[in-house]
Amino acid sequence: MTPVAPRSIVGDMPVYRAGRTGADVARERGIRGAVKLASNESPHNPLPSVRAALEVAIGDINRYPDVKAARLAAAVADQVGVATTTGVAVGAGSTGLLLQLAEAYLGPSDDVVTPSPSFEGYAFAARLRGASLVRVPLAGSQADVAAMVGAITERTKVVVIAEPNNPTGTLVGGEALQRLVEETASRCLLVIDEAYVEFARGADQLDAVACARRHPHVVVLRTFSKAHGLAGLRVGYAIGDPAVIAAIDRVGAPFAVNTLAQTAACVSLGAGAELWDRVDAIVERRTRLERALRERGWSVPDPRANFVWLPAGSASRSLASSLEQHGVITRPVPDHGVRVTIGGPTASDRFLNAFASCVDQLELTTAWQLPVADDARFVLDVLDELELIDRVDGFAVDDAARARARAAVADLVAGELHGARRDVATGALRRVAADAGGRLSKVVAPRAIAARLPPQSPHVVPTNSGQ
Ligand SMILES: Cc1ncc(COP(=O)(O)O)c(C=O)c1O
Repeated sequence: MTPVAPRSIVGDMPVYRAGRTGADVARERGIRGAVKLASNESPHNPLPSVRAALEVAIGDINRYPDVKAARLAAAVADQVGVATTTGVAVGAGSTGLLLQLAEAYLGPSDDVVTPSPSFEGYAFAARLRGASLVRVPLAGSQADVAAMVGAITERTKVVVIAEPNNPTGTLVGGEALQRLVEETASRCLLVIDEAYVEFARGADQLDAVACARRHPHVVVLRTFSKAHGLAGLRVGYAIGDPAVIAAIDRVGAPFAVNTLAQTAACVSLGAGAELWDRVDAIVERRTRLERALRERGWSVPDPRANFVWLPAGSASRSLASSLEQHGVITRPVPDHGVRVTIGGPTASDRFLNAFASCVDQLELTTAWQLPVADDARFVLDVLDELELIDRVDGFAVDDAARARARAAVADLVAGELHGARRDVATGALRRVAADAGGRLSKVVAPRAIAARLPPQSPHVVPTNSGQ
């Protein structure tokens, strides 16, 4: 034993568990060539322009890096549209910036409010400073903004939200996030972590940078680890009020962002189509995987990042373990779900094959939940619309299935559906709502329907049996 003990907090620090690698799986299970879909990394090698710049920059690594990362800060300011670099801090990834933020703002008497589950880096940063993390459970798979607002007290120094959220991939969207901005103003800092913003794609997004320009308590975090594919170099940035940025900068370790990271990030920021083609490819593969899962009868929340979330509940650990046995490494969040990163061109097929091979052996029936309350009501509305269209178009539909679904949804709304009847109802609902998805596309977005459908139980015949 050493004669000097570390701070008492050290023993309580959560150990950050990185995603398992192919080498882990080969060593522990003797499985070779497993595909890693566990860490939300980019499957792409460096862009040719980035690689070329790195080859030049490597000649200078006998020198210290620019301590202010001034060129990169200026490039970021220019790209995101903040007037000067005083509104931009560059750090060693979002994780490094979170630690700086914690160092600058948090102490033992402070609370950090965050949705849960979410990125575990928030817990790490808070605990390191002795602050308490107030975890606000998600509503379904999405951050519950109203509950987060309700959790803010005098002790709250920081509210942090990942938009889109990790691990569920959902977006809170403009209106709700705007409310959070307003409710936190003059009370605490609001950190909007946009690690996956490039994949989010949609009119429902809040312009968080514009928000940070207008509201001095809003800080936006971004990273080069995801869409830019530079996770191994550790670089990211924060955008915020100059006073907040100055505080973050003051506590950063000097030279934390190395020369290669600064160089690569600058080139990647200016890469344009070369980079966006890759991001587009990931989004396309994500859409294909999302559709494939839903066509096979599985409910997944709308994915807005570079991964898809399987809400497997208590079966999460065993599902991830079975997938690994089939050579696919995913990230389980025990008792919540399994996160599957979008990988290279063949990765999703490998995942789907592995998934098809292992679902039947798992107890997923009770783990994936049926829609209740508003979600169930939504399906009821879809059924009403379907009936309306039938009358107009004279379409023949499966009346018996619709009647069963209608009764089932009514029971779900009333909270009275249990046991085996749930499975029957789920199947009936799924068939009718899948029909609705095909036929009501002008009225109700099919993805909105699919997102609210209950997950498929292995005992129910899927609408489209797939593989
Ligand atoms: C929401 C979120 N924020 C931040 C990070 C960390 O990113 P970085 O590599 O920049 O530290 C991650 C990584 O997975 C993340 O999911």
